Amino acid sequence: MVKSVPRPLVAGNWKMNGTTAMLKEPRLLAGMLRGVKLKCEVLVCPPATLARRVKAVMKGSRIKVGGQDCHWNVSGAHTGDVSAEMLKDAGCTAVIVGHSERRTNHAETDDMVAKKAKAAHAAGLIAIICIGETLDQRKSGKALEVASTQLKGSLPEGATAANTVIAYEPVWAIGTGLTPTVAEVAEVHTHIRNDLAKLMGDAGAGVRILYGGSVKPSNASELMAAANVNGALVGGASLKAPDFIGIIKAYM
Ligand code: PGA
Repeated sequence: MVKSVPRPLVAGNWKMNGTTAMLKEPRLLAGMLRGVKLKCEVLVCPPATLARRVKAVMKGSRIKVGGQDCHWNVSGAHTGDVSAEMLKDAGCTAVIVGHSERRTNHAETDDMVAKKAKAAHAAGLIAIICIGETLDQRKSGKALEVASTQLKGSLPEGATAANTVIAYEPVWAIGTGLTPTVAEVAEVHTHIRNDLAKLMGDAGAGVRILYGGSVKPSNASELMAAANVNGALVGGASLKAPDFIGIIKAYM
């Protein structure tokens, strides 16, 4: 059995928020983290329109920039879409795929998510693959089953601990202020860890599993301390540098 402790990752997902006026936030973030010893990596995922600008603002900091979605094709007639290559070209090192808002608003299936993750890998990006149950599914005792099905269906061939991150995001916890208990988070994350071992062998131990859904400065430390939690995917609280720092503090 290979023992490896993955380096945690705290990723901010700005969603459809941010114009150039928001560039002061990454500038502030970079300033606040200057000279601070961090036990985690930090990633900011602004809208694609801002990726290059955010990257420039962060120059000299260790903060990386990511995308929020990508098409599975390299290029072509896909009006409004962005490819993984384009994100890479704009300075991104990672891309979120299969976020529940994409699965719901754009009818994305596990199969489509797996294709997007594969495209991310081909472009040299880390794929942050999101999975998680709805409230109805949790209430009917299906949270673990949903995690297993989505993970198996969304994980592409060629996934490694270096190119893949899993984000467990219960849909009912996203943007609602509600969170599962620490024990519930630990239960799902440990289940995902075991599934990763089945799907990837020893490499599964090194895949980071992020928790996402209403993470804020006041609950970050206890959520990040749960078994098999290797960081956070943060929505609302990543829009303001002091709030995001409050979460990153769980790893200072
Ligand atoms: P939230 O969003 O932190 O605002 O709940 C998390 C996410 O959607 O990634």
